[in-house]
Amino acid sequence: MNFVGSHILSVDQFSRSDIARIFETADTMLVYAERQRITRILEGAILSNMFFEPSTRTRVSFGSAFNLLGGEVRETTEVRASSLTKGESLEDTARVLSGYSDVIVMRHPQEGSVAEFAAASRVPVINGGDGSNEHPSQALLDLYTIRKEIRTRGAGVDGLRIALVGDLKYGRAVHSLCKLLALYDNIHFSLVAPPGLSAPPAVVSLLEAKGHKVTIHHELERGIHHVDIVYVTRTQEERFASQDEADRYRGLFQLNQAVYTANCEPNTVIMHPLPRDSRSEAQELASDLDANPNLAIFRQADNGVLVRMALFALVLDVADRVDEFSKPVPWHSHR
Ligand code: NCD
Repeated sequence: MNFVGSHILSVDQFSRSDIARIFETADTMLVYAERQRITRILEGAILSNMFFEPSTRTRVSFGSAFNLLGGEVRETTEVRASSLTKGESLEDTARVLSGYSDVIVMRHPQEGSVAEFAAASRVPVINGGDGSNEHPSQALLDLYTIRKEIRTRGAGVDGLRIALVGDLKYGRAVHSLCKLLALYDNIHFSLVAPPGLSAPPAVVSLLEAKGHKVTIHHELERGIHHVDIVYVTRTQEERFASQDEADRYRGLFQLNQAVYTANCEPNTVIMHPLPRDSRSEAQELASDLDANPNLAIFRQADNGVLVRMALFALVLDVADRVDEFSKPVPWHSHR
């Protein structure tokens, strides 16, 4: 795809070579993310970071990524604090905000809302998550992490064995990640969900149509045998019709060190898009795994900054000139 000036709405937009381009660019961002150097390449540019749904990592890492490239960030964090509560349409909001910014990141609870917003925007819009539909930047950072983690073992993405665990019905990160992985060859997907939270049939048929092996499990232990990656997700409680319905799924699957040791191959990498639900009744990823070196969740979150910097640099057409506008860090860095 031509990244320059494009909206990033769905992983369907990417080919394998586009992904390679994003990841090469992300690699070049490490010196800035690690504060070895500063770049001002986006000096004068403004990001509108519009989050109409809760977010910590996605919002702050998009904002930090833009700041690290030298740009300024304006933010809305609640629907309540925006004019959408006064009945303003997404189209009008887009027309107005695109007059104030050079790029917009948007998260919204409705599926398709970010595309609707983008259609009325004069500047590129990046989807920060639209309902349970897609979360393209999360899938990119997940795949970037998978590559990095398994490369140290001499493996590549083709032939990967991955277990996706938890709420596969409403988890937009999983939906985007499955579609992205489907571009590679010969992947074994172990889809591990309680009955009622299975992956959407459209996702499963896409994987099968592309020739990947898909096995379905309703029980955690069997589903995580013989995989390179266990990708655990939170029950997306906010998407259920009622809290009572959501409560039925809480705590059904709990990956902890004992379950890991008994069922996973040694060195299986553990991932989670975060936040993990650490309430005692939930615990889909127990904190006794924190000492396990294969727990990649914080490396995964760190990678989000690199991938988001890459997306901004590509969309705003500065990916090859970031270093020209750079200098050493004058202040003490703890990194
Ligand atoms: C995910 C999301 O919002 O879809 N979180 C994130 O962006 N890192 C997953 C989740 O909320 O469970």
